[in-house]
Amino acid sequence: MHTISPNSTKKAWAGAIPSLREATQTVSFPAERCANANVQPATEFPSTQLPIISGKIPDGLRGILYRNGPARLERGGLHMGHWFDGDGAILAVNFNDAGATGVYRYVQTSGYQEEAAAGKLLYGNYGMTAPGPIWNQWQKPLKNAANTSVLALPDKLLALWEGGKPHALDLQTLETWGEDDLGGLTKGLNYSAHYKRDEQTGEIFNFGISPGQKATLNIYKSDSTGRIIQQAAYQLDGIPLVHDFVLAGQYLVFFIPPVRLSILALLIGINNYSDSLEWQPRLGTQILVFDRETLSVVSRGETEPWFQWHFANGYVDATGSVIVDIARYEDFQTNQYLKEVATGETHTLAKSTLTRVHLHPQTGKVTSIQQLLNRHCEFPSVPQQNVGQASRYTYMSTFRLETDISQEVLNAIARFDHKTETLTEADFGENCYPSEPIHAQDTQNPEQSWVLTVVYDGNSHSSEVWIFDSDRLNAEPVCKLGLPSVIPHSFHGTWNPA
Ligand SMILES: [Fe+2]
Repeated sequence: MHTISPNSTKKAWAGAIPSLREATQTVSFPAERCANANVQPATEFPSTQLPIISGKIPDGLRGILYRNGPARLERGGLHMGHWFDGDGAILAVNFNDAGATGVYRYVQTSGYQEEAAAGKLLYGNYGMTAPGPIWNQWQKPLKNAANTSVLALPDKLLALWEGGKPHALDLQTLETWGEDDLGGLTKGLNYSAHYKRDEQTGEIFNFGISPGQKATLNIYKSDSTGRIIQQAAYQLDGIPLVHDFVLAGQYLVFFIPPVRLSILALLIGINNYSDSLEWQPRLGTQILVFDRETLSVVSRGETEPWFQWHFANGYVDATGSVIVDIARYEDFQTNQYLKEVATGETHTLAKSTLTRVHLHPQTGKVTSIQQLLNRHCEFPSVPQQNVGQASRYTYMSTFRLETDISQEVLNAIARFDHKTETLTEADFGENCYPSEPIHAQDTQNPEQSWVLTVVYDGNSHSSEVWIFDSDRLNAEPVCKLGLPSVIPHSFHGTWNPA
């Protein structure tokens, strides 16, 4: 749990962090200081026609944008301890011939429903121990927050959270159907938020970490319907934090960062999961290369320490080298920064840069590490059709140049052109905060694509959907759509073409 200092001066982005209002009321902020913290848990809305604020929806933009993120960080006066703990809610924006409709719904996990019925928090999670006496923490399962990402399958939408199983939802109404095992997730197996889908084969690769004295890395291959058709298990050293991986040609590549869970403090219940994670740079970064056909280990290597949450993409170049692009941090301060986000006020510096790692797949040996761009980079991605292959462009979230990045949240999106080595940025102006950019291919013109982002405007305390021409990120968006209520900062989304 956290408390908010009465002397704080909130930035505009705090308006997009749910549940700060109750905290500010209890400490009697001066009115002018709480102007931007006036946020209750996010408000759901049913399917609603979205007003066009400017421009026109492109004729070739047909499909559904989905986004997932923490929408409630408080219940019954108690606040959750980390941004990662908020209950997930999903926004769907459906672009069709009649315009665009939006729907926003919480994922109805069993934990969410129990806590809603009780009117208070009952579970511990990543950044908080379970409320109440210490024995509450022993053996008590975590609440599945279902708040990290989404996977759109032909007949269902999955809400993903890396510490548990996915939840299946109706693709149109976002009604929650319940936990889904994809035909292969037996008890104790988790399914990460960062699957990789091969556009050519339709195969979906993913992993999950099962804790234990030593953690197990479970790797899954699904067909295009999501059904798990193959899986493998690999024992790791200790319990590391593994958030993402990459598909690179015929390989699946993991970089295991030198962060390890101190299990004792967690089990006794004196520390939550987040505070039990230790940065141990002497361990270096472990490289694990798997074969995508057999899911067996090809090689294992070790290199200098760094931390990454996210991979941009991977591929095999003409010489047979594996190339992997990541958003690289020099340490694990990012975890502290993200914890602070839940309070509406940050001060920890955590910079990551788009970095390219070359490695030899047969030996796991890293041959070079190259910073591609000396600007903050998060949520890097490539167009879906380039996943696992070379991509000319990498899309990312970043900060505007003049930003004090220890005190702000991501406030710009950009595209890096690997061919010309140039960055093109979209300008959202003061106090506006775009979500991770999502690339959408035009259905009529293969040369055309769009970039979608959900923007929180801290000036008007409202959210909008902005659509850019992907080749003109630095021009005015081609269309802006209004949303009925504020959509809090979200983590990850996807584009599901019609
Ligand atoms: Fe992520």
